[in-house]
Amino acid sequence: MSERWAIGILREMEPSLIRRLAAALLTLKDVIVLAGGDPDFPTPSHIVEAAVKALKGGMTHYTPTQGIPQLREAIAGYYEKFGLEVDPDREVIVTPGSQQALYLTLACTVEPGDEVLIPDPSYLVYVPTVRFLRGKPVRFSLKAEDFHLDLEELKAKITDRTKMLVLCSPNNPTGTVLTEEELRGVAELAEEHDLLIVSDEIYSEFIWDGRRHVSIASLPGMRERTVVIVSFSKTFAMTGWRLGYLIADGGLVDQMLKIQGNMVLCPAAHVQVAGVAALTGPWEPIEKMAEEYDRRREFMVKRLNEIEGINCPKPEGAFYLFPDISKVSNSSVEFCRGLIEGKRVAIVPGSAFGLHGEGHVRIPLVKPMEVLEEAAERIEAYIKECGA
Ligand SMILES: Cc1ncc(COP(=O)(O)O)c(C=O)c1O
Repeated sequence: MSERWAIGILREMEPSLIRRLAAALLTLKDVIVLAGGDPDFPTPSHIVEAAVKALKGGMTHYTPTQGIPQLREAIAGYYEKFGLEVDPDREVIVTPGSQQALYLTLACTVEPGDEVLIPDPSYLVYVPTVRFLRGKPVRFSLKAEDFHLDLEELKAKITDRTKMLVLCSPNNPTGTVLTEEELRGVAELAEEHDLLIVSDEIYSEFIWDGRRHVSIASLPGMRERTVVIVSFSKTFAMTGWRLGYLIADGGLVDQMLKIQGNMVLCPAAHVQVAGVAALTGPWEPIEKMAEEYDRRREFMVKRLNEIEGINCPKPEGAFYLFPDISKVSNSSVEFCRGLIEGKRVAIVPGSAFGLHGEGHVRIPLVKPMEVLEEAAERIEAYIKECGA
């Protein structure tokens, strides 16, 4: 009964779906696991070598809470390509993974009762985190046909309690890449209603078919009201290293630093050195990974669309497919349950990402082509056997 020591809001919360799924998977054999967004590529060797060299060279101590200056400078240099001028001393906090950057941001800005606008569907961590912080998550639905923004819908959800808006472009799970025009529309609303924007940009290196990433922070007037969240996890295949960062106005960074040291003290020293190596290059290994994701995307979109009843749009960015399975099942949870039990393929139900994700499933392209091909075969066999 020791759970009684935990605060009420935690006892009311369900463990995350991904955690529950991972626990269930441990009991099954020969499963093709396409659940999490963990790249199957090794971290590029020059990054690993930089970390090893740092460890051998004695980088085994605390660093400044904000992160080592060399890494903050490398981050500022990198973000220039998105049109942002970043002061590495005042406007960056390096964090153990972008998830912690997200938590830090929300913990430092959400007051009890504050309404936080969150796209539906989107990454499943935003809602429980806001709830945990006693804020009120308010979902705004993305357009059903392409999961782009519906500005009228967004506007209708703004009240005098709305404090902020979370954006994720490219979006996990839909792959939607917001256009500059859409972002300008959001920026106008943010200025009109004095909103803070939390812009999760962790998939910005994976954008397809000639599109480009626009950071909302680069639009006129938006710098002061935007916190940009970025990660090394996906871009450099570094999920297990735990390295991310946020870029925000210096005034807000000062406030966040009052508590960040109490939470994490600092990210691991050698991991930060690895981050410098990652950002300063060479970038060829990342280009190769992007090419491979693109190849997998082309193949799998075509292959899934050959399956009767499935409609798989081409994602504009990130490395997830979000096919529509509503013609073959009226519950994405049931579809995924049947698929894992019957054919040993684990994918995530779209409803995990919000009500508007229902009718879809998420398939990450983080396994070699032959494994993805086998997963598609099994999905096809499953649908045929269900009599869809
Ligand atoms: C949209 C989005 N934001 C943040 C994260 C957290 O990434 P990390 O903490 O590894 O940087 C993820 C991980 O899947 C994600 O998909």
